[in-house]
Amino acid sequence: MIKKMILGLITALSISLCGAMLTHAMEAGPAKPTESWEIINGGLLYDNWISTLMISPPKKSHPAYPTKGKESGTSTWRCKECHGWDYKGSEGAYKKGAHYSGIKGIRHMIGMPVETIEKVLRNETHQFNQTLIPETALSHLAKFVSHGQIEMAQYIDASTLKARGSAPRGAAYFQTICAKCHGYEGNEINFKPDTPDTPEYIGTVARKNPWEALHKIKNGQPGSDMVSLGLFNIDDLIDILAYAQTLPLK
Ligand code: HEC
Ligand code: HEC
Repeated sequence: MIKKMILGLITALSISLCGAMLTHAMEAGPAKPTESWEIINGGLLYDNWISTLMISPPKKSHPAYPTKGKESGTSTWRCKECHGWDYKGSEGAYKKGAHYSGIKGIRHMIGMPVETIEKVLRNETHQFNQTLIPETALSHLAKFVSHGQIEMAQYIDASTLKARGSAPRGAAYFQTICAKCHGYEGNEINFKPDTPDTPEYIGTVARKNPWEALHKIKNGQPGSDMVSLGLFNIDDLIDILAYAQTLPLK
């Protein structure tokens, strides 16, 4: 009887240990992370720190989320939900529409010391405590804010949403990198599998939300195997985006 209990305990322990190790490996990243990796990981965290860190999310809406906003619950804790894919908050694409936030952007923090930004993230407004965002992840976020932002307005025309890049040049990158997972037409992964009548492919996102597409081309997709092209020249990324805007919607 006792022997059985002990055996059961050991099994339970080793299972939970394995789980912890798996989470740990994902969270920790490389043994000797480079500054570049940290900044890009910060970009993934900005997109969705909950899926990047694989933690169980807060269920209640973020206390700083505006009452006029249309989102609620977990999604209101994502940096992008308040500050936007263009990092401009109320001065950018989120000044109106379904993702209205009315909150200031993070552009003024470019080049600021990491410690200054970390303090902002731990402040009363944000409430990102240790349990939600541990020290290491917090520093990556701060590094992203300081060194990882793209000046979106320079590369994406706000009125036409067109990328100011060369689609033919982007095609070469797309066919040799992105197509491995998304297919040559960009429609092998449907991002909205639950609504089969209105699929969402790279072509869809690149046209509808070029800022989001560019952020993801640079930093990758949280919680997936998607690669990050953050070390390529920004012009290469814009060319890829320009090509992505020509891909089919079906
Ligand atoms: C629910 C909305 C909300 C979310 C989510 C949110 N913020 Fe903020 N953020 C604010 C508000 C409101 C301010 C301005 C007031 C303040 O700091 O007290 C702000 C200010 C900032 C500033 C300072 C900007 C400046 O110029 O002073 C930075 C940097 C920042 N946030 C980064 C982040 C990051 C990184 C995340 C994700 C980990 C995040 N925020 C998530 C609401 C949010
Ligand atoms: C190793 C495989 C892989 C490669 C290479 C890859 N992706 Fe992805 N990508 C994914 C996966 C997986 C997802 C997540 C799909 C999901 O969440 O439904 C994704 C998501 C995306 C999204 C997000 C859509 C959304 O709204 O959530 C965009 C945009 C995207 N990829 C564009 C690209 C582009 C452009 C390239 C080339 C620069 C590329 N991807 C390369 C695997 C890949």
